[in-house]
Amino acid sequence: MNTSGATLDPDVPKKKLTKESFRQGLRIFRFTLPYRAKFTVGTVLLTLSSASTMAFPWLIGKLADAASGNPVVLPNGTAVSINQIALGFGALILLQGLFSFGRIWFFTQVSEFTVRDIRQALYRKFVTLPIPYFEKNRVGAITSRITSDVGIIQDSFSLTLAELFRQVTTLLAGIVFIMIVSVKLSLFMLLTFPPIVVLAMVFGKKIRALAKTTQDELAKTNVIVEETLQGINTVKAFTNEQFETQRYTTSLTNTVRAALKSNLYRGGFVSFVIIGLFGGIVLVLWRAATLVQAGQMTIGDLTQFALYTMFIGASVAGLGELYGKVQSTLGASERILEILDEPTEPTHQPGAQPVQLRGNIAYEHVAFQYPTRPDLTVLQDITFSIRAGEKIALVGPSGAGKSTIVQLLMQFYELGGGQITIDGRPIQSYDLTELRRHIGIVPQETILFGGSIRENIAYGKTDATDEEIKQAARKANAWQFISSFPEGLDTLVGERGIKLSGGQRQRIAIARAILKNPAILLLDEATSALDSESEKLVQGAMDELMQNRTSIIIAHRLSTIRKVDKILVIDGGRIVEEGSHDELSEREGGLYANLLRLQFELS
Ligand SMILES: Nc1ncnc2c1ncn2[C@@H]1O[C@H](COP(=O)(O)OP(=O)(O)O)[C@@H](O)[C@H]1O
Ligand SMILES: [Mg+2]
Repeated sequence: MNTSGATLDPDVPKKKLTKESFRQGLRIFRFTLPYRAKFTVGTVLLTLSSASTMAFPWLIGKLADAASGNPVVLPNGTAVSINQIALGFGALILLQGLFSFGRIWFFTQVSEFTVRDIRQALYRKFVTLPIPYFEKNRVGAITSRITSDVGIIQDSFSLTLAELFRQVTTLLAGIVFIMIVSVKLSLFMLLTFPPIVVLAMVFGKKIRALAKTTQDELAKTNVIVEETLQGINTVKAFTNEQFETQRYTTSLTNTVRAALKSNLYRGGFVSFVIIGLFGGIVLVLWRAATLVQAGQMTIGDLTQFALYTMFIGASVAGLGELYGKVQSTLGASERILEILDEPTEPTHQPGAQPVQLRGNIAYEHVAFQYPTRPDLTVLQDITFSIRAGEKIALVGPSGAGKSTIVQLLMQFYELGGGQITIDGRPIQSYDLTELRRHIGIVPQETILFGGSIRENIAYGKTDATDEEIKQAARKANAWQFISSFPEGLDTLVGERGIKLSGGQRQRIAIARAILKNPAILLLDEATSALDSESEKLVQGAMDELMQNRTSIIIAHRLSTIRKVDKILVIDGGRIVEEGSHDELSEREGGLYANLLRLQFELS
């Protein structure tokens, strides 16, 4: 059995770039496949805009040549004037503007549509994951997949990918161009410049790590302040003011030490940049100047060379930054794919035959433990049966396992042993959606979704007519309060709407269940959170609801279950007593008789 899946790590560290993580991460590209035409156009435009950017230094060099009296000639021999070069430049800039616009437009479309599809796939996955998945993973960790991880993917489809492409092409084209300008100078530059840039990147990484250490140390000191101030009574009662001050001082000293170390490297970095990077530039310029003097280069060549070198330097630095982005993109896509690969519950299977349930239920030696706590046996040897239309009640101390018994019928979890049958068929053999369609549940606390009362009732049958909804509300004793609202069924509830009382919410839940018209009804302490006034109204509504349905009632107040066909007393995950109210209440020393007496004394 593996319906529960793995746990999510909420703060997974960035992925190391390995072949495997690349292969995994690239699978996210399957979501762009429907938009590959747009993607291709975007890529072509990106190539064109990168190419036109690379032409800038070339033209600037030519302008410098033309200005300094070196004739600029086309391959066919005609000389070109400064004005003509400037005109060509203008045209290029116009084109560049157009290309950039188009590239952004097309890539944004790809990224927006792709991200919509990923979110949709994730959401569909979320709602079809089995319940244990949500018990093993925190909701925050799950939702961050659909928010921040998808956000990272969006960034990379709209920006990072294009940036990466551009930087790589700039780097390669830049190197080709400087080679064309001057092979000698290029080799000289490539031997000095990139090693310095790489060193700078390594240096930068070390500094970031040290800065993080400083932050961590500082966080530790803050924890001390918080702890001691929150527990100030304890500090004083134990007269530990001096001790705590000492502890804080020690921690502060550590922070200072870490900060100084980090700044030592930072200072080193700055002087390294000044000496190393600018020194390198001076070195290259010096070499270039000697070449110009020797007539091996023109001023225009020098200009081109210097500009391309700057492009190359910028793209190397940019690639360093992009490396981190690529890492987080791969990490994000891996986490997204991990969820998409989770096995889902088999709901909404195509071609499922509608079933009609009569509502004969039998539990046979059912054993169970929750997947999150496999070592704790929650239910043992639960055996009972209900004939269609009968009502039984489960009573017993809290934590006995009553709610668990009821939830197993919905197949929220797999059984640990035994089996449950409905109309003689094991519940696993039913189509899950069909099975749940015939089971209605009214829980202890009803959650209403943000929206109108109408929508909340219609949750039991999304295509219900107005008349059906009103009818259900009347049967649920809810119509009276609904019609007293000025907006009636359209009254908004939930976060942005009015707040309904517990009893009103329960009656809406009952109206929902009435609309759903299930063969089997589960009432899990549906009235226990209510005051006795609203309990009466809700109880009346429930009596209406239970007519002609197989019902399992978990009752907190024993007075509400006198009329049921059978009462099961549950304790410690077992059925300890079984019988009618009259039989059980007369059993000397029985748990039910005891509970009855306790409640009688309390009321
Ligand atoms: N979702 C869950 N995950 C793990 N343990 C649970 C879960 N729900 C209930 N339990 C445990 O199972 C036992 C039975 O709980 P429950 O069926 O809710 O009892 P009752 O409804 O009788 O008060 C308790 O020990 C409870 O702590
Ligand atoms: Mg319960």
